[in-house]
Amino acid sequence: MLLTLLLQVTWTLAALGDDHWTYEGPHGQDHWPASFPECGGNAQSPIDIQTSSVTFDSKLPALQPHGYDQPGTKPLELHNNGHTVQLSLSPTLYLEGLPRKYVAVQLHLHWGQKGSLTGSEHQINSEATAAELHIVHYDSDSYNSFGEAAKSAEGLAVLGILIEVGETENPAYEHILSHLHEIRYKGQATAVPPFSVKELLPEELAQYFRYNGSLTTPPCHQSVLWTVFSQKVQISKEQLEKLQETLFSTEEPSHPLGQNYRVPQPLNQRTVLASFSQDESSYTRGEMVSLGLGILFGSACLLLVIYFIAKRTRKKRSRLEKSVGFTSAQATME
Ligand SMILES: *[C@@H]1O[C@H](CO)[C@@H](O)[C@H](O)[C@H]1NC(C)=O
Repeated sequence: MLLTLLLQVTWTLAALGDDHWTYEGPHGQDHWPASFPECGGNAQSPIDIQTSSVTFDSKLPALQPHGYDQPGTKPLELHNNGHTVQLSLSPTLYLEGLPRKYVAVQLHLHWGQKGSLTGSEHQINSEATAAELHIVHYDSDSYNSFGEAAKSAEGLAVLGILIEVGETENPAYEHILSHLHEIRYKGQATAVPPFSVKELLPEELAQYFRYNGSLTTPPCHQSVLWTVFSQKVQISKEQLEKLQETLFSTEEPSHPLGQNYRVPQPLNQRTVLASFSQDESSYTRGEMVSLGLGILFGSACLLLVIYFIAKRTRKKRSRLEKSVGFTSAQATME
């Protein structure tokens, strides 16, 4: 009886505590603003990017990740924090191509529940993908710590990579996913051998959407300069299942960790910039090549047809001329 009461009190205190939040239920995303006022702000993330409403900005350069492909020798820490799986990153990884230099802090994932193909936070034309990778950076020139930068406008830069299900296993993502069974419960951590974080990114780094937004989890600080890549990356169905089915958001096997995505937030007066124009975006490079080959092949076929028609017409004409000669000869005979 006393124990039950004690547990009740502990639960209530935990629930009232500022750091208690979930995606669903009484502490779910609809209730975040009550405990974390910034979550109710007017420049929140994620958003649904409507490509017909974005503004093309020809001055947005390709994003340049530095040190991403130099894994070094130190193992990386992979941690189940009860909300997501998070990999700590070395500040030797940094970004150029943004207004200032931003150094890497951590990366983490968002995904859906078991069996779901929707789990990304950002959407493009109202379509979510299976999962989303976020690589978090802060402006180390202007701020002394991540914590300080996280509260300041444009203090953070986050890369959003949309993940969909493809045919083959993605070996880069396996560097993370193959260790999930070591950190099934909240609070567990493991060491991951260093690997090239570059390989988690899409190939095309020049095509992206850029907007001012927020952290997608409480306290939802509106300090993030977002880059969401237009090109998606693929993981296999088995890899997605591993992500969806291995982790728990609790210290015992009670609540599975998943469906940890926030729904799109109102854009309000914000502008979403695109580093590329719409015409380019409707075709990938592969489609461009096959389109070119198609046109070439089509033209060749057309030329061949014209050639044969011309040849036949010439033959017919000469036959006609001959037969005309013959008929007139016949006519003279009669
Ligand atoms: C983000 O906000 C800053 C002002 O804080 C502004 O200068 C910048 O142009 C905005 N960026 C985008 C992509 O809207």
